Amino acid sequence: MDSAVERLMQIAIDATEHAYIPYSEYPVGAALRAVDGVVFSGCNIENAAYPSTICAERVALVKAVSEGRRAFDLLVVVTRDGGSPCGTCRQMLYEFAPDLRVVFGDMNGQVMFDGPLSDLLPYGFGPSNLDK
Ligand code: THU
Repeated sequence: MDSAVERLMQIAIDATEHAYIPYSEYPVGAALRAVDGVVFSGCNIENAAYPSTICAERVALVKAVSEGRRAFDLLVVVTRDGGSPCGTCRQMLYEFAPDLRVVFGDMNGQVMFDGPLSDLLPYGFGPSNLDK
């Protein structure tokens, strides 16, 4: 594992400490690096109205965008079993970073996937479809 991934993995693991997960009890942590090098963390935040839950990846993304970043080069996601980012998160990330490097794995450092977002969302629909 390269040092950037190792660093973001630790940030993602630390972020799971803040996960608000009374319903699933399934912590997720994310660390998203903007191209200027700033890293934004995220954890999942659940809600009694279940669909209002927001995933860790999107928390990291909306934090970053709301603080002026729109270009990203690395995302690391951790769960207890190495679960992969959901479809909604893939789509929202694709909007800003179709070439994003995504790494996901478990909290012991085992990597399940390390590759481009476009492998996780083939034929993704994005801004270019709307000529943006
Ligand atoms: N979850 C994430 O945070 N990211 C994903 O990409 C998959 C699912 C969260 C949402 C919910 O809090 C819990 O995992 C179980 O679905």
